[in-house]
Amino acid sequence: MFVDPSFAHDVRSYLQRTPRQLPSRYFYDELGPALFEAICRLPWYRITRSETALLDAHAAAVLAPLSRPIGLAELGCGSGEMLAIFATSAREPLSLVQLIDISPAALDMATYRLAAIGIRNVRTYLGTYEEGLRRASQDRHASGPLVVLFLGSNIGNFDPAGARELLVRIRTVLRPGDGLVLGTDLVKPERELLLAYDDPLGVTAAFNRNLLRRINDELGGNFALDGFSHRAVWNSSQRRVEAHLVSLRRQSVRVDAAHLDFTLQQDESIWTESSHKYEAAQVVEDGRLAGFGHAEQWIDREAGFALTRFTV
Ligand code: AVJ
Repeated sequence: MFVDPSFAHDVRSYLQRTPRQLPSRYFYDELGPALFEAICRLPWYRITRSETALLDAHAAAVLAPLSRPIGLAELGCGSGEMLAIFATSAREPLSLVQLIDISPAALDMATYRLAAIGIRNVRTYLGTYEEGLRRASQDRHASGPLVVLFLGSNIGNFDPAGARELLVRIRTVLRPGDGLVLGTDLVKPERELLLAYDDPLGVTAAFNRNLLRRINDELGGNFALDGFSHRAVWNSSQRRVEAHLVSLRRQSVRVDAAHLDFTLQQDESIWTESSHKYEAAQVVEDGRLAGFGHAEQWIDREAGFALTRFTV
């Protein structure tokens, strides 16, 4: 069995925290991106549809003020659906497309999707946002601006301090004339958020439980997958939807490769994800604080999602 040492290390340290946690980045193994793709098509999960509608209407305007040829680098490209929209509306050929993702399955999907529309000047970077950003900026095309895409409210998995730090990091690798396009889900009524993150088909529950399945398979865990229920909670003071796996009974847990052995009490939860929601004006302010220049924003007609373009 191949053991990823940082996965083993993170599982060990996060499961021993109070409350117990797991980092959401580990959702994205082979199966995770496919389950997330299914979530994006659920009627209750509106992020993807809102963002697609915004890009279909405005992708050309988003890129308009930048000089040509443009290079695009996407953080957490997933299946490459949004990149394909940008590439199609860019009007002129892109100098280079750089895909950054922690899932090999996602990089494969995106590369395949871009090839299908004739885009082959693609480089993939398997790794975290930080690593990928550093490598992609060193590797950027010699001419033209670099535009970093951080879409789909991927930034929502960071707490406010972590998000600001990441924006500063992005700003630091960019040069005058470059840009950042940030997609953020906006605060909306609690019942809509809970349906989006606890859908009636149970796809989000499967996406969440898959993390335990991955730990069982890759780290020699013994989680009983039917011993957990998925729970989504709107934490209004922190403006985030939290995802939990709640233990249905008292159970003992072992994860061999993480040297872990502990008891979960009945109703004890493992907190697996936070999806922070934004106010549109806060996004502009965060970019300004990170050192970006001018911001322009596009918001969908339901006021559920914001696309913000920052210049450098
Ligand atoms: C990929 C992080 C943007 O938080 O909405 C979807 C992941 N989790 N349903 C999100 C997710 C549960 C998604 N992001």
